[in-house]
Order: sequence, then C-alpha cells, then structure tokens
Amino acid sequence: MISLNYAFDKNVQPKSMLGLKLPTDPRWVNLAEKDLEEILTDHAYCEQKAATSCISLIQQYPERTEMVKQVAPIVTEEWGHFRMVLLELEKRNLKLGRQRKDEYVNQLLKFEKKGGSRDERLMEKLLICALIEARSCERFRLLSLNMKEDSMKEFYHRFMVSEAGHYHLFIELAKLYFDDDKVKMRWQEYLIHESSIMENLELRGDRMH
Ligand SMILES: [Fe+2]
Ligand SMILES: [Fe+2]
Repeated sequence: MISLNYAFDKNVQPKSMLGLKLPTDPRWVNLAEKDLEEILTDHAYCEQKAATSCISLIQQYPERTEMVKQVAPIVTEEWGHFRMVLLELEKRNLKLGRQRKDEYVNQLLKFEKKGGSRDERLMEKLLICALIEARSCERFRLLSLNMKEDSMKEFYHRFMVSEAGHYHLFIELAKLYFDDDKVKMRWQEYLIHESSIMENLELRGDRMH
C-alpha cells in the first residue's frame, strides 16, 4: 500500500518541489485571466483527459493490482475536477467550448518510448502522467497566488493540492514496479525534454499548458 500522506507546503517553490526545470513565465497568469471562458474550457478538458488516462491505465494493466487500486479513485477525483470546472463556468454564465489541440501533451507523447516491453511502456505512461500532473500543479499554483479574484485563488488552490498528490502517486507507482535508478534516470530525461517543450511553446492565455 502506498502512503498518500505527503507534506505539501505552498511556500515551497514548485520548481524544486516537483523537479521541473523551467518555471512558467509569470505573465501567463495575466493572459489566462483575461478570458475565463477560454482557460476554464481548456482546464475542463485537461481534467477529462486525466480521468481518461487513468481509465486507460486500468484497462491496459489490470494485473497491476496496487496500481488499479490506487488509480481507480483518481478517476473519480479527476472527473470531480471536471465537474467543478463546469460548475464554475455555469456560475459565471460561461459556456464549455470545444476541445482544443493539446500541443503540450502531443509533444510529450512524442518522447514516449513506443517500443520495448509492455512493462517498459507502463513506466513511460506513469512518468508522463506524473509530469503532466507536476506541470499542472505548478500552473495552478501560479493562478492561486496571482489571479486578481479571491474566489479564483481559492478555486485553483484546491486543484494545486490535489494534482500534487497525483504527481506523487504516479512517481511512487513507477518506483513500486521498476528499479529506482531506472525511474530516476528516465524521469530526468523527461524533465529535460519537458523544459525544452516549454521553452519553445507559445505562451497562450487560452491554454492550461
Ligand atoms: Fe485534476
Ligand atoms: Fe490530477
């Protein structure tokens, strides 16, 4: 059983906490809060995709009992997040738009090793999930600290705490099934690759990543 008790200190810089190599440009918050319908729509689909990825993990690796046990409640949690975003849109009389192309995730997936054994592919999937959670957490933190509206600060604080837990879980699952050094080495490769994606990705207020 993996313990999900972790200390989350909001004053710790996510750059060091999550291992991310490149912090988000703080100007992103100003762009994002200019059009809440846009950022909330993109956010909603990020939550939907997170739930979908967890379901896929369960479908693809049903024999990984501990993972199934740990990831199943995350599906509910992510879908709950989707509903929270929907509610926020509704409260503000805004509409959920169509899903957009997710350039960030598409580029991350290009780095995933597609060959290798089924087990090796599981490690790749767990690390990609961890990475997306880490970056989402970092972005939610920026929103929770810097948005103008207090209710939005609180709204994003809740997501930040939750995604930090998911990041931690995916890393722990990778370590449960695979050699520590192997996980650490591949994680570093992912972090370096992710920072180069972030560096070249256009800073858009209508995208969560
Ligand atoms: Fe979420
Ligand atoms: Fe999450």
